Amino acid sequence: MSPSPHVVPIADSTSVFKPDLFKGKVLFCTGGGSGICRGMTEAMMRHGANATIVGRKLERLTQAAKELSEATGQECIAAQGDVRQPSTLKEAVAKTIAKFGRIDYVINGAAGNFLVPISEMSENAFKTVMEIDTIGTFNTIKATLAHIRASKGAYIHVSATLHYNGTPYQAHVSAAKAGVDALSAVLAVEEGPNGVRSNVIAPGPIAGTEGMDRLSPKGDVPNQPGLPAGRMGVVGDIGNATVFLFSDAAAFITGQALAVDGGALHLQSTF
Ligand code: HXC
Repeated sequence: MSPSPHVVPIADSTSVFKPDLFKGKVLFCTGGGSGICRGMTEAMMRHGANATIVGRKLERLTQAAKELSEATGQECIAAQGDVRQPSTLKEAVAKTIAKFGRIDYVINGAAGNFLVPISEMSENAFKTVMEIDTIGTFNTIKATLAHIRASKGAYIHVSATLHYNGTPYQAHVSAAKAGVDALSAVLAVEEGPNGVRSNVIAPGPIAGTEGMDRLSPKGDVPNQPGLPAGRMGVVGDIGNATVFLFSDAAAFITGQALAVDGGALHLQSTF
């Protein structure tokens, strides 16, 4: 099988962190078979973590786990699961514990997305994205929390910035990501006393990912000169934010949403 068309190597970024930062630690990542979440997993593995990636498509997942292991020298295993089905998450957690004995970090990354106006969106289309993004995040928290308490670990939930304003054709994703942000804040407050941190990363336009392709259906993503950063994001930008937020350098940061968007959020139109 050829590599995923959405592989964007973390080498796009220059890591300023110690290579053994997460030695002996274990990451559990939903949606880790492709795109941004695969890059987040790679960033953690390049800093010493072992990982489980969870997703629906076993062939893609197995290939990604193999490539991640080879690229980083750490161990990555694939666990087939659907975040809408709690039993499959429990199985993925059990597989992780059997293999690695612990879970320190969780990335809630599994997400659905497509462009459609409310007037044409079916009830099931809206419900499907809510179930994957919001309920899937809740299900993953439930399946992993005991282990994250035990390791005094942390969560990162992959959200977005599009629900801060009214983004057309994104009613389902906007509602779902608002729910994810709210869940993260409550988790941070409830579980802080147990040594658990919970933060959100809100990626902006990240080139070469399935999500970006779906939001830019013509396939061609312009290198938007209007972005304050002067370029599109790369997966490595999200990887660096992930390493920082999971590291002890962020020990006093919890309940936050960090936009990693090249300043796009604050770009004000002239009218
Ligand atoms: C309109 C659509 C649709 C489309 C699916 N549906 N695709 N409606 N336009 N393009 C509708 C279907 O018709 C159906 O409703 C309902 O949604 C469920 O679709 P299924 O295909 O049966 O569901 P399922 O197989 O579970 O697939 C779920 C999925 C998924 C959400 C459609 O395939 C998907 O989107 N995968 C994308 C993964 C992805 O890109 N992830 C990255 C997200 S990026 P009916 O009524 O017909 O039954 C991201 C970041 C956002 O979220 C922010 C970036 C800046």
